[in-house]
Amino acid sequence: MSIRNARHPFYDFCDDALADIRRQGRYRTFTPLARDAARYPVYEEELADIPQGREVVVWSSNDYLGMGVEPEVCEAAISAIREHGAGAGGTRNIAGTSPLHKALEAELASLHGKEAGLLFTSGYVSNQASLQTILTSMPGWICFSDRLNHASMIAGIKGARGSTTIIFEHNDLADLEAKLAAAPVDAPKLIAFESVYSMDGDISDIAGICALARRYNALTYIDEVHAVGLYGEQGGGVTDRDDVSDQVDIIEGTLAKGFGVHGGYITASASIVDYLRSAASGFIFTTSLPPSVVAAALTSVKMVRAQNWRREKMFERVNTFRAKMRAAGVPFTMTPSHIVPVPVGDAERCKIISRRLLNEYGLYATPINYPTVPQGTERLRLTPGPFHTDEMMDQMVAALKTLLAEVPLPVVSDNVRGMAEAAA
Ligand SMILES: Cc1ncc(COP(=O)(O)O)c(C=O)c1O
Repeated sequence: MSIRNARHPFYDFCDDALADIRRQGRYRTFTPLARDAARYPVYEEELADIPQGREVVVWSSNDYLGMGVEPEVCEAAISAIREHGAGAGGTRNIAGTSPLHKALEAELASLHGKEAGLLFTSGYVSNQASLQTILTSMPGWICFSDRLNHASMIAGIKGARGSTTIIFEHNDLADLEAKLAAAPVDAPKLIAFESVYSMDGDISDIAGICALARRYNALTYIDEVHAVGLYGEQGGGVTDRDDVSDQVDIIEGTLAKGFGVHGGYITASASIVDYLRSAASGFIFTTSLPPSVVAAALTSVKMVRAQNWRREKMFERVNTFRAKMRAAGVPFTMTPSHIVPVPVGDAERCKIISRRLLNEYGLYATPINYPTVPQGTERLRLTPGPFHTDEMMDQMVAALKTLLAEVPLPVVSDNVRGMAEAAA
């Protein structure tokens, strides 16, 4: 037996890499916040010096409709735990398929007007596993990927050894067409894109992309993660709203944002779903979603489909918030979606404003910095929801107005200081 005496170089690597990340102002800290289900979007912040914690109003949640605290949804999870236990106990193949799993897959297929649906343990896994599996299925695949696609799509695309990736400029159909036209006619092609891009809040031209896909015989794969539950008569996403679900081959979504629970899925033709069920490693070799999560998600999807007022309420709140921001002269980016980005323009300034919002006003808005967005476009990303009251909005607008004035641009950030020191 060999005994290792020397410190493994990976330990030093981690220390150095972390020092570098800190120097660049990219060190990640998380704020522990306990959601108060009865008072969403109110949370409690754990603080060492205040035993009962402190109330915080969260403005960055992706539980866009508040379905995660809906009593019927929570009750569905609780009764499923009582009836079936806490975990699934196996992969889908090893006794991990309950009637609830089948019912949820059928519900999602019907939501998107597709023949079949397939559950994954998260939206991330559904993208990564589906794209990687599709793009390694036949020789010569070419994937045309929007420049701003989510990391989970990129992971699947990059992981597909043997395929070629061509990145087209974000939402730029002329660039996409030029790239499709330049590709070999006979190569199997796939266009991977999103509907609502969550950082900028813009929406893709789905019908336009599908028209190009038909012209160049490409398969279409859309990520509707930030749209399902929110758009369309039944909450089937932007494909539902624009009545183009039948033009897209594969619609991917999450159960964790508009539906407020957890898990990911794809819906498509019976044969595509059946193939991925049989070939996608990320589907096959992992314990299936627990019955409580599936039961809660099924209840949520059914409610969200049937209750259009939830979507109307959310958009009413978003519009009211924008009107209040406009009236107070607080800058924000107008988007065609429910997302309200507040441009800040500098990583350190973004962090300071976010920290002061929390410490001085009890308001939580996540700072969005590089590498999530390009340097210079740092922002706060706000997601007003159905439970943000007028009073909460007035508080946020006033706090932003004060802080954006008090923390001016440019602030000499650690990042800039670090670069200046390195150059000296
Ligand atoms: C565009 C997009 N796709 C996929 C995901 C992953 O979804 P999930 O959180 O369910 O893993 C995210 C997560 O934020 C996302 O923003």
